[in-house]
Amino acid sequence: MVSTVQEWTVLTIVKWTEQYFKKHYIESPRLDAEMLLAFVCQCSRIDLYLDYDKPLRAEEREQFRELVKKRVQGMPVAYLMGEKGFWNLDLFVERGVLIPRPDTETLVEKSCDAIQKWQKLHLKKTCSILEIGTGTGAIPLALCSSLQNICCISVDVSEDALKIASKNLRRHSNLLNPRFNSLKLIQGNQFQMLSRSAEFDFIISNPPYIPTGQIALLQKEILFYEPKQALDGGEDGLDFYRNIFLNGVKHLKVNGELLLEIGYDQVQGIQALLPDSMELICIAEDLQSHPRVWHGNRLG
Ligand SMILES: C[S@@+](CC[C@H](N)C(=O)[O-])C[C@H]1O[C@@H](n2cnc3c(N)ncnc32)[C@H](O)[C@@H]1O
Repeated sequence: MVSTVQEWTVLTIVKWTEQYFKKHYIESPRLDAEMLLAFVCQCSRIDLYLDYDKPLRAEEREQFRELVKKRVQGMPVAYLMGEKGFWNLDLFVERGVLIPRPDTETLVEKSCDAIQKWQKLHLKKTCSILEIGTGTGAIPLALCSSLQNICCISVDVSEDALKIASKNLRRHSNLLNPRFNSLKLIQGNQFQMLSRSAEFDFIISNPPYIPTGQIALLQKEILFYEPKQALDGGEDGLDFYRNIFLNGVKHLKVNGELLLEIGYDQVQGIQALLPDSMELICIAEDLQSHPRVWHGNRLG
């Protein structure tokens, strides 16, 4: 930073960084500036403004300068801070694991509704859930924070992702035993680690669903920083749905339900893959009114 400002106070630094981020086409320049500064000052964004004319200490300025440099190179704020808010939880994130997205909260919301309905029909029974592709563990931990008496198995092929998911599990262990919930993390390729006879009341997944050819067109924040393994859904983006319908639904009990996050333009492609053993219950939209969740059930 080349200083034309007399003193680097909280307010001058936020304003300067906002302009600097704008020049570098950062999408939310003010928000990013505030989040990074609050991270460095170890306070909330609101608290920044309680002391807006406080000068920053030299070490804080140095740490902030490094973060700003990395941000303009494209590194997402969540990786810089090592944390991301999802649902009502703060989750650890690191490079090597996908940053949980607000879109996925729609999948959590619809899953909670469906599981609660199931629980009303199956009083006092533990609801068994299989999740494929857990990443940070965002989905099962969000479910555990909103529900009780669920038993979740979450699978991911990535060792890096599972390390972070375990850290998040330890961080939020208060969501388990006291609420009669359990969460087991398993490393494996989709359904391969399951015994043939394993059956669940629900299967939930936010799988990789970007067509391979579109990966190179993603914003640099995603393209250069987030794991391809978490994004690449094969040539047409539908490889994981294909496998879930082919090999996954055998692990659903009769009347068991399947909830999948999908790309906004994938409804037709997914419907074309639907096996006779499954029927669509509904497609739910996200906050931008895009189709985002495919919800179906296994027929008898
Ligand atoms: C789109 S990310 C979803 C992460 C997390 N559930 C979320 O919503 O933030 C997809 C996840 O699937 C995992 N994955 C990719 N291929 C897989 C496979 N063959 N078997 C299991 N998991 C896989 C990735 O490592 C990644 O964590």
